[in-house]
Amino acid sequence: MKRNIITTQDGSKTIRLEEWNEHYHSTHGALQEAKHVYIKAGLDHFASLHDVEKLRVLEAGFGSGLNALLASQWAIQNNIIVDYLGLEAYPITQDEKEALDYNKLIDAANQKTIFDEMHNCKWEQWVKLSPNFKLKKLELKFSELGLKQVADVVFYDAFGPRVQPELWEASVFERFYEALKPGGLLVTYSVKGTAKRALQGLGFRVEILEGPPGKRHMMRATKPK
Ligand SMILES: C[S@@+](CC[C@H](N)C(=O)[O-])C[C@H]1O[C@@H](n2cnc3c(N)ncnc32)[C@H](O)[C@@H]1O
Repeated sequence: MKRNIITTQDGSKTIRLEEWNEHYHSTHGALQEAKHVYIKAGLDHFASLHDVEKLRVLEAGFGSGLNALLASQWAIQNNIIVDYLGLEAYPITQDEKEALDYNKLIDAANQKTIFDEMHNCKWEQWVKLSPNFKLKKLELKFSELGLKQVADVVFYDAFGPRVQPELWEASVFERFYEALKPGGLLVTYSVKGTAKRALQGLGFRVEILEGPPGKRHMMRATKPK
């Protein structure tokens, strides 16, 4: 499927799928959305509830690596070790990575290469990219995930239900419910009613929260202890 790079309203870039008229991030602001939905409602919230020195994130799908990049910076700022599992069936190309130019989002001079390393590192194995951040990229489909109680926080960042409704159904969410530890949480930008009900049907406690700029709402689902 043809993909091209566009600039979103906050100046950060994202990838557009022409055929589907679908984007990897909100066109109102890729960076703003990633910070609001995954970092603030996901990592900040989890760390506010649990006194942790270390946590594990599971992301569906890894895509551009923007969420992973922000999580690596959050790990340093909060002095918490983050192990990050990124699932992706259709990795982006080197040219796309270069064009996204997310290196410029990093302030610390000694961290400038971490985005490149995230994309260049081997798949299917843990790679330590900083003292606080380890990454393992898994090239598989969400429906193939078979992990049990390994993750504290799931970043559920699939394409929207309009174009991939099958990824917002109970049969797929069940894999992420299983992969979460008790008390773990899943955050996502979509608030589609069928997705909300599928999550609730699996036993998640679902909250509808204020969304990032340009979007009214987002969703957070917590697995009971
Ligand atoms: C909304 S984009 C991801 C955005 C990503 N988190 C980022 O920050 O760039 C959705 C991602 O899911 C991947 N994807 C789509 N269908 C998938 C599937 N069935 N299994 C695994 N990955 C899938 C896409 O290739 C894409 O990278």
